[in-house]
Amino acid sequence: MPVYTLPDLPYDYSALAPVISPEIIELHHDKHHAAYVKGANDTLEQLAEARDTEQWGSVNGLEKNLAFHLSGHILHSIYWQNMTGPKDGGGEPLAQDGVGELAEAVKESFGSFAAFKTQLSKAAATTQGSGWGVLAYEPLSGRLIVEQIYDHQGNVGQGATPLLVFDAWEHAFYLQYRNQKVDFIEAMWQVVNWQDVARRHEAATSRTNALLLAP
Ligand SMILES: [Fe+2]
Repeated sequence: MPVYTLPDLPYDYSALAPVISPEIIELHHDKHHAAYVKGANDTLEQLAEARDTEQWGSVNGLEKNLAFHLSGHILHSIYWQNMTGPKDGGGEPLAQDGVGELAEAVKESFGSFAAFKTQLSKAAATTQGSGWGVLAYEPLSGRLIVEQIYDHQGNVGQGATPLLVFDAWEHAFYLQYRNQKVDFIEAMWQVVNWQDVARRHEAATSRTNALLLAP
């Protein structure tokens, strides 16, 4: 019985066109995301086998694989939900749309929506190799931060919760945008589902601070 399963897309393959082509969405979800789900499940099985047989020679590689595949599964699961068709998505979070708390938090943490947008765009577009640009809630400070993630799991502050994720791996755009990663990241803002980002922000901020650093 697998621990992790591939979630269905919340829309059909063509829902994000013309920003992201149906071909990219199909391959990205059905092949790439599916491979991370399989990788996470396979690695858990291999770790269980290592425990059963007390064969720990490969534990270092297995823990790296677990971090990679599990983080890939988590980030892609958020990614699909973070987007909606260009008719409903994009713009910026506004109080009149019911996402005022998120809008306020962005302003407090980054100075303005424009400054935040630029920072996240730059972080996503300047990834070297494969990575992500991420807006995350950091519970120690109670602020929002932008992270530039290497692969799926490197360069993150422990304990932060991803709220809005921009996939900057070539598989996310190359079939349509070729080598123009900056153009892809810019276009991504047209399909951001702010309702979903606000829902994630509300859940993250209303949760007890699990880091419990102060008594
Ligand atoms: Fe991806």
